[in-house]
Amino acid sequence: PQPMRHFSLRPGKASTQLAPGKYPMTPVWAYNQSVPGPQIRLIQGDRVRIAVENALDEETTVHWHGLRVPHAMDGVPHLTQTPIGSNKHFVYEFDVPDAGTYWYHPHQRSAEQVGRGLYGPLIIEEREPITVDRDVTWILDDWRLKSDARISDDFANRHDMSHNGRIGNTVTINGLAPGNFRVRQGERIRLRLINAANARIFALNFQDHQPQIIALDGQPVTPHEPANRTVVLGPAMRVDLVLDLTGDPDTRFTITDTFYSGLEYELIDVVYGPESLRSNALDSPIALPANTLPEPLMAGITRHQIRFNGGMMGQMMMGDGNNMMAMMREGKMWFINGVAASGHVMDPLLTLERDQSYLIELINDTAWHHPIHLHGHSFRVVSRNGKPTPHQEWQDTVLMAPEEQVEITLVADNPGDWMFHCHILEHQAAGMMGIIRVS
Ligand code: C2O
Ligand code: CU
Ligand code: CU
Repeated sequence: PQPMRHFSLRPGKASTQLAPGKYPMTPVWAYNQSVPGPQIRLIQGDRVRIAVENALDEETTVHWHGLRVPHAMDGVPHLTQTPIGSNKHFVYEFDVPDAGTYWYHPHQRSAEQVGRGLYGPLIIEEREPITVDRDVTWILDDWRLKSDARISDDFANRHDMSHNGRIGNTVTINGLAPGNFRVRQGERIRLRLINAANARIFALNFQDHQPQIIALDGQPVTPHEPANRTVVLGPAMRVDLVLDLTGDPDTRFTITDTFYSGLEYELIDVVYGPESLRSNALDSPIALPANTLPEPLMAGITRHQIRFNGGMMGQMMMGDGNNMMAMMREGKMWFINGVAASGHVMDPLLTLERDQSYLIELINDTAWHHPIHLHGHSFRVVSRNGKPTPHQEWQDTVLMAPEEQVEITLVADNPGDWMFHCHILEHQAAGMMGIIRVS
């Protein structure tokens, strides 16, 4: 019998301080009174029971982003479960088949619930963990604060919904304004990064240091150095890095972010402490376990195509343009195959047969970036704009550049109706959402 692990989550109102002494208190919505919520840390193969008691004034759910859970545990209101009412509770219970870095967040009015602080890390350790001296998790977010440090109430406003989503003015790491990150000369760190922002795409530049990427969206990838020492992380994406800190203890290095403007701002300063470490980890190569996902069979694979459209510029009226104009008048801005989702009840975009392999071509017909996420499965990103990807990485959220065409493959092994949506939460709210059915 598998060990059963127990956790409890209580989403409710709380307040937090981004930097003691520097910021006044910020009222937030949080799990167990803290942003991020408690780390749920399990071992691959565990069974877990998570009791959720809703102390918010509104309905909520919890979604286990990236985990292959049974449909009834996926936390999507009306599609997989009845939403959890105010002062009501719900118990999630599932096995964790795959190791990796995941996170949890509500799927009910997510632009506001996530944007006010409801999210937390979900770490599934390998049965035989890789050798490191420290395993560190950073959840990145960006908050839109008013001058009194309160979160701006302008959620889901028309401008954010029709442009690049809710971009904040204050970046946080683990709920705090980033300061220094202290390291020891000679140590090896596994750094798990999770982008929990509603809309911000981070482009993290490592200055004076070359990290190794060892996993993407939780799934192992051949260890490699990121191009230009830059890790690009769209909303909901995760990356696991290994930092081998053999450098000169007199150097400090910074991690900067440049995505939107091309202008760098310093995210965090990495500072060597006085003590050094004779690490045993540094002598051993990074040996990641093979991933545990079903491998798509290319012979006889079934092909489909899905197009993303809408937005305020560069829109291409595919299909029924008049229908899209009508939906835009109702506040829908973004479409999949020319249709904007309203609520969670809709016709599936695709119906896939259980245990069959599929290749789906995703086409971004817009002038905007979209991190596209599928529930219940991971998929292999096999090509971009017709060129095979060098690492054929597994993802559950693929960042698509404007006008980009991406091919993914997967085995449809998890039966149910699964959400398929843009993880810029304002785009999701404005219609960029659909269902993929596995029957
Ligand atoms: Cu992380 Cu449908 O969500
Ligand atoms: Cu998800
Ligand atoms: Cu989008």
